[in-house]
Amino acid sequence: MNIKNQVKVKISSIANGGKGISYHQDKIVFVSNAIPGDEANVEIIKESPKWLEAKLLEIPSNNPKREKAKCTIYNDCGGCQWLGVDYNFQTELKKSVLEDIFKKIAKHPLPSNFKLIKSPKTLNYRNKVTLRGQIDVKGQIHLGFFKKNTRTQIHTRHCSLASDNINDFIDFLYSQKIKGKEGKFRLEIRDLPYEKKQNLFVTLHAVEIKELEKKFLSLIKQNKNVLWAGTPKELNEVPLAIQDKQSQINYHTHPAAFEQINTGLNHELRTIIKTKILDLKVTSVLDLYCGSGNLSLALSNFCKFVVGLEVNKKSVDIANFNVKKNRLKNISYKAVNVKKYLEKEIEKCQIFDAIILDPPRKGIKEDLLPLLKIAPKYLFYVSCDPATLARDIKTLKTHYDIDQVYGFDFFPQTYHLETLTIFKKK
Ligand SMILES: C[S@@+](CC[C@H](N)C(=O)[O-])C[C@H]1O[C@@H](n2cnc3c(N)ncnc32)[C@H](O)[C@@H]1O
Repeated sequence: MNIKNQVKVKISSIANGGKGISYHQDKIVFVSNAIPGDEANVEIIKESPKWLEAKLLEIPSNNPKREKAKCTIYNDCGGCQWLGVDYNFQTELKKSVLEDIFKKIAKHPLPSNFKLIKSPKTLNYRNKVTLRGQIDVKGQIHLGFFKKNTRTQIHTRHCSLASDNINDFIDFLYSQKIKGKEGKFRLEIRDLPYEKKQNLFVTLHAVEIKELEKKFLSLIKQNKNVLWAGTPKELNEVPLAIQDKQSQINYHTHPAAFEQINTGLNHELRTIIKTKILDLKVTSVLDLYCGSGNLSLALSNFCKFVVGLEVNKKSVDIANFNVKKNRLKNISYKAVNVKKYLEKEIEKCQIFDAIILDPPRKGIKEDLLPLLKIAPKYLFYVSCDPATLARDIKTLKTHYDIDQVYGFDFFPQTYHLETLTIFKKK
């Protein structure tokens, strides 16, 4: 490494995307994995006329907000940037990033009634994990993740974010051998915390070890907690299972359907939406990007009618299965593209008092126009990316006031933040 590229910096604040901010020779320096209060040697890895990008050469030990991260692959794995950082401080950082984004992108202050809801579990909260794996020449199975910004595997016997059930399964695989062929594979593991006996869905993508696929799957199925294991081709035959239970509703799922990964905090999100819907006397709800009905099934008891729209047909089948199994009478879900449907059915959509929207990371940008024509009284916008939310607020604020913003810390030990913004028509 070129020593000229090394500098000592002091981190003063945090940027969107979780990078620490410092200054060096009149340039702003963005440092990955660094937090305010860190004083550290960093290596400059990119340079532009106005800014530098750098990485920590060691994790600073002199910052009282940090303790040593208890993970063997922490330095290399990009998964939890803030492992070992005081949890309250993590949530303060997330709030300050959100304030900054609101000011700079939405050109609207973060409302003073902003509330950040912490995660009931700060470790082992993920109910879904994708592991990269390798079988070595001796038949030993290794599991882990990609090294940050590369496709090189790094291996571990424990993931601090994965649920206990998933970590037990990782232990099980490490205790087994599967001889026959070296090579790499990918495992998607979904934990179903409410299925008490068998609580795991495991999908095997056996890229380099096709010959071992059958043997490997039968080994996986020997684990007593595995409810279903198979290849992506077999996904159509998977029986639905209960992912979650709340307010006497059973939420079924399937390994190919989107689910919120932090089950505990997802309960809070549903509860707050339901309480607000009641307070605001909303009687009809359109749930856009509805997945398998996570946010709207429980509204059945309080609303006259609820409709959900979602592009993934499998998720819509599960949503309608959930309706039937829970004997809900006034809810239906349709498999459609939101933008196309809204453009075509503006009048049909104008009957709803409120619209819930929970789009993917890219936000609702191009779907905003029909939404503004529909103009419901309230919008409940759930977002997993503050920057795209702020961009959309910039357009929405011409027609809507912001009633309240909540942060939900769905992803402790990382810089990510989920938000719920409630808008009221002007
Ligand atoms: C963040 S997830 C939210 C799902 C659900 N609200 C939940 O809480 O589980 C976003 C969902 O949007 C769906 N989606 C993405 N693009 C879409 C589109 N153009 N039209 C309809 N649904 C879409 C995805 O399939 C995914 O299920």
